[in-house]
Amino acid sequence: MLPAYLPNPVAALFGGGTPIDLRRNFSDGKRVFGDGKTFRGLCMGILAGIGIGLVQIWISGTYGLEYLPRHTYLSIMLLAIGALLGDLCKSFFKRRFGKERGTKWPVADQYDLVAGALILLLVVDPSWLFANMTLPAFILILVLTPVLHRAVNIIGYYMGVKEVPW
Ligand code: CTP
Ligand code: MG
Repeated sequence: MLPAYLPNPVAALFGGGTPIDLRRNFSDGKRVFGDGKTFRGLCMGILAGIGIGLVQIWISGTYGLEYLPRHTYLSIMLLAIGALLGDLCKSFFKRRFGKERGTKWPVADQYDLVAGALILLLVVDPSWLFANMTLPAFILILVLTPVLHRAVNIIGYYMGVKEVPW
């Protein structure tokens, strides 16, 4: 899941600049995505996710870690892109519900990346997903994701990268 987990913190570290919605409003008069979704965050995040995936492919090729899921170039791209598309979709609906950028939206804020990554895999490369996603792995992802999310956001808050610790 590293190619899906890394894009968000990297976007928070290196994001900024032009927002993806070009500061435009949706038909309800509220921002389409908001200032928290930028082109730079999206690109840097996806590149970082693919980068860590390439390292994983290299490591498993070199050390033959048969018990780990065997990533492909496609699977790492789908995990990284899907994670940030999920994050973007979340922000779209968050704005529609009238929640300002950076406000808390429990469950959605934590699982947006997992949903985005797994749904994109399911649509584009289901054979990889079904060959590698076991029920215990899925349960572990559901348990680990909110814990990691919270821990990384607290670190980001004290580093001054995030304005709020969630
Ligand atoms: N970020 C970015 N581009 C993205 C995603 C994230 O630049 N595509 C950066 C922004 O600086 C953002 C930070 O990462 O503020 C944290 O991301 P997130 O918590 O997802 O955004 P929020 O600011 O909380 O906005 P939202 O309410 O829409 O979730
Ligand atoms: Mg947020």
